[in-house]
Amino acid sequence: MVGRAQPDRKQLPLVLLRLLCLLPTGLPVRSVDYTRGTDNITVRQGDTAILRCYIEDRSSKVAWLNRSGIIFAGTDKWSLDPRVELERQTPLEYSLRIQKVDVYDEGSYTCSVQTQHQPKTSQVYLIVQVPPKISNISSDITVNEGSNVTLVCMANGRPEPVITWRHLTPTGKEFEGEEEYLEILGITREQSGKYECKAANEVSSADVKQVRVIVNYPPTITESKSNEAATGRQVSLKCEASAVPTPDFEWYREDTRINSANGLEIKSTGTESSLTVANVTEEHYGNYTCVAVNKLGVTNASLYLYRPGTGRVDNGSMSLAVPLWLLAASLLCLLSKC
Ligand SMILES: *[C@@H]1O[C@H](CO)[C@@H](O)[C@H](O)[C@H]1NC(C)=O
Ligand SMILES: *[C@@H]1O[C@H](CO)[C@@H](O)[C@H](O)[C@H]1NC(C)=O
Ligand SMILES: *[C@@H]1O[C@H](CO)[C@@H](O)[C@H](O)[C@H]1NC(C)=O
Ligand SMILES: *[C@@H]1O[C@H](CO)[C@@H](O)[C@H](O)[C@H]1NC(C)=O
Ligand SMILES: *[C@@H]1O[C@H](CO)[C@@H](O)[C@H](O)[C@H]1NC(C)=O
Ligand SMILES: *[C@@H]1O[C@H](CO)[C@@H](O)[C@H](O)[C@H]1NC(C)=O
Ligand SMILES: *[C@@H]1O[C@H](CO)[C@@H](O)[C@H](O)[C@H]1NC(C)=O
Ligand SMILES: *[C@@H]1O[C@H](CO)[C@@H](O)[C@H](O)[C@H]1NC(C)=O
Repeated sequence: MVGRAQPDRKQLPLVLLRLLCLLPTGLPVRSVDYTRGTDNITVRQGDTAILRCYIEDRSSKVAWLNRSGIIFAGTDKWSLDPRVELERQTPLEYSLRIQKVDVYDEGSYTCSVQTQHQPKTSQVYLIVQVPPKISNISSDITVNEGSNVTLVCMANGRPEPVITWRHLTPTGKEFEGEEEYLEILGITREQSGKYECKAANEVSSADVKQVRVIVNYPPTITESKSNEAATGRQVSLKCEASAVPTPDFEWYREDTRINSANGLEIKSTGTESSLTVANVTEEHYGNYTCVAVNKLGVTNASLYLYRPGTGRVDNGSMSLAVPLWLLAASLLCLLSKC
C-alpha cells in the first residue's frame, strides 16, 4: 500500500547548514564530504535499529539529524521520541539507537561530525520491512452455476507483497497474474472448492488464507439401476444424482408417488436413493421413475423391475464383456491366420 519514500537528498545540506550554525562553537563550513554515498540499513518493524557513527577525537562536534530536524546535538537530545537514544560503547562511538522501529521511521539519517579540520557527514538510509499480512479476504460464498464471481484478498507489508491465487480443490490451478482480485466469469461446478490467497514478500514466510466457493447447480441423474427378481424375493432399484445443494428424491410408479409403506421402502442418503421391494409380487413388475429435485431444478429417470429372464439389467459388466469377447476372437483369429 505504502510506497517507499526516497531520501530527500536536496533538503539535507540545508538542514545541515542550519545545524552547524546552531552549534555553540561552530566552525565555518569549509567543505562537506558527500562522496561517501548512502548506506542502507534494513530493519524489521518492531526491531531495534542501530545507526553507527564514529568520531575521530573527543573534541569533535557531533549531531544526528533526521529529515524533519535534529535528533541529538552532542549529548543533548532534541527529539521528544522516547524510543531514540545514543549508543556510546566507546568514547569515540556516536551511534543512534531506535527501538521498536516503525514504518514512519524509514528515511535518511545523517551523522554530522565536525573535527578541527573539516566537517564530515555520513548518511544512513533506514529501510523498514514489514512481513506480509492478509488484512481482508472474501468470506466463503455460495453462488449459482454461471454466475460471475469476484474474490478479493488484500495484504499489507513492505515491500508490498505479491498476491497470488490458487484453486486448491479439485483442480489445483494456479492463476496467472499478481492480483488482489480474482474474477471468475460464468463459474462452473468444477470451479467450486477452496481458493487460496498467498501474500508474499522477501521479509518472512508468506501469509496464506482460504475462501470456500460453493457452486449450486440443478440435479442430473448420473446412474439409475434397473433390476430383476423372482416373486417372493427382495429387490432394490437404485438412483444416483449429482446436485448442489444435495437433492431430494421422489419415486413414482406410473404417475403415482410411492411412499415407504406396504412392503416398499425408500432410502435416500446424500446423492443416492434406493427403492426396496421386500417381497416381490406380480404387480411390482414394471416401470418406475426416480425424481431428483433441488431448488435449482428437477430431473427424472425411468427404471424397470423385470421378471427374471425378460429384461436386461444394465450392470455395466455386460458392455465390458463384448469388447473382451471381441478381443479374444481377434486374438484367436490372428493366431490361426484367418
Ligand atoms: C540502498 O537501497 C536502494 C534501493 O532501496 C538502492 O538503490 C541502493 O543501491 C542501496 N544502496 C546501498 C549502498 O546499498
Ligand atoms: C524522523 O522523522 C520523522 C518525520 O519525518 C518522524 O516521524 C520520526 O519519528 C523521526 N525519527 C526519529 C528517530 O526521530
Ligand atoms: C474488506 O473488504 C470488503 C469489500 O472490499 C469491505 O466491505 C470490508 O469492509 C473490508 N473489511 C475490512 C476489515 O477491511
Ligand atoms: C458476467 O460478466 C460478463 C462480462 O462482464 C457479462 O457479459 C455477463 O452478463 C455477466 N453475467 C452475469 C450473470 O452477471
Ligand atoms: C411374500 O408374499 C407371499 C404372498 O403374499 C407370501 O406367501 C410369502 O410368505 C411372502 N414372503 C416373505 C418372505 O415375506
Ligand atoms: C416409463 O415411465 C416413464 C415416465 O412415466 C415414461 O416416460 C416411459 O416412456 C415409460 N417407459 C416404458 C417402457 O413404459
Ligand atoms: C420426467 O421428466 C419428463 C421430462 O422432463 C416429464 O415430462 C415427466 O413428467 C417427468 N416425470 C415425473 C414423474 O416427474
Ligand atoms: C448384475 O449384477 C448383479 C449383482 O450386482 C448380479 O447378481 C447379476 O447377475 C448381474 N447380472 C448380469 C446380467 O450381469
